Amino acid sequence: MEKLDQQAIDILKDNDRGGYTVPTAGLYPYQWNWDSAFAALGFSTFDLPRAWQEIETLFTAQWDNGMVPHIVFHQPDEGYFPGPDVWQGKGPIASSGISQPPLIATFARKIYQRDTVLGEEKLRKLYPALVKWHRWYMECRGESGAIASTHPWESGRDNAPDWDEASEAIDTSAVGEYKRRDTSHVDASMRPTKLDYDRYLALLYFGRDSGWDEEEIAKNGPLRVADPTLTFTLLRGHRDLAEIGKMLGEDVSEVEAWITTLEQGCMQLWNEEMKAFDSVNLRNGKFAGSLSNASFLCWFAGIESPGMVEHLERLLASGHYIVPSYDPAGDKYDAMRYWRGPVWGFMNALIGWGLEDQGHVVLARAVRQQTAGLISNFGFAEYFNADDGTPAGGGHFTWTASVWLSWSLSDIAGG
Ligand code: SER
Repeated sequence: MEKLDQQAIDILKDNDRGGYTVPTAGLYPYQWNWDSAFAALGFSTFDLPRAWQEIETLFTAQWDNGMVPHIVFHQPDEGYFPGPDVWQGKGPIASSGISQPPLIATFARKIYQRDTVLGEEKLRKLYPALVKWHRWYMECRGESGAIASTHPWESGRDNAPDWDEASEAIDTSAVGEYKRRDTSHVDASMRPTKLDYDRYLALLYFGRDSGWDEEEIAKNGPLRVADPTLTFTLLRGHRDLAEIGKMLGEDVSEVEAWITTLEQGCMQLWNEEMKAFDSVNLRNGKFAGSLSNASFLCWFAGIESPGMVEHLERLLASGHYIVPSYDPAGDKYDAMRYWRGPVWGFMNALIGWGLEDQGHVVLARAVRQQTAGLISNFGFAEYFNADDGTPAGGGHFTWTASVWLSWSLSDIAGG
């Protein structure tokens, strides 16, 4: 297993572009927000200053309103579409105009716990920027109680079935011609469809043409879906932010109030019919009817749920790899297509850490064991077929390597 540890370290080093890390060369040639959170955590297992640098570089792109963008375009690259000229972000450096699930507060706290030398000083600098970002989420995405996504890319789960019904309202008639680049890097059967991409662009153009005006986007944006990814990661992030603030001697009353708000607000995502956390189309109040791997982030957020335990036990007994990004028993399941079935190692890490925190020892071990098995048998892929483990999407993947290192998967894969 030492060989795999070394491979994981080499992947992080190969994907390092000097101060930031690309998710994988070719397919994703820029800095992505939540990928970078994992990159930082991975680096922290062997190079703490580099771990902090990853986060600091990401925050150089923070907008005045507090938003931390989902892509930061540090240098031009023809291999990706849509690039900076399409997005026209309003930040201090070229970026997209939407955010991504906020993992940095949680991971910065984990890195601090490893770093007795630089940790406190680094957190002191980072803390106000984190508060500003979390406040932006509460003010610009939190009107329903849970946290809304304005674009499937903001939730991080691009083509999840969660957005299917809500996306029907998106008018794509003005999108026009464009050339996708993702399908020149990986097979089209593993990626979103043309209709999905038309919708992604229509949403992008709406935001851009409004000048990334959050009021306009909230009022008239074609998509607004309250989403378990954003809601649960932000709730967990608030909890870690409050602990960081207390350690630094800050007044954390605002952050604590956000925790209370989201503890209540996340229950809006509970679909009693499915007995699961789900997404809600805020334009019509309808549940998506989607049991996804994000549904299982409840424990990561500190929310207990016997119903979700039952679902996880059912999936475990089903013979599929856990945790699939969409329920294999659901009618939209597609074992190879990105967020419509495959297992994602980094989502498993978030789910597994949540289970560990909440004392679900047996389930936590099952998720950890399967993640270790997938990576050691099939490599450091972006994601894996939930039926048979076939590696899919990009290879040599930063967050998969980081999960291997930061979750000490060599221990369990060897044993
Ligand atoms: N995941 C998106 C892509 O595939 C962007 O965030 O390009």
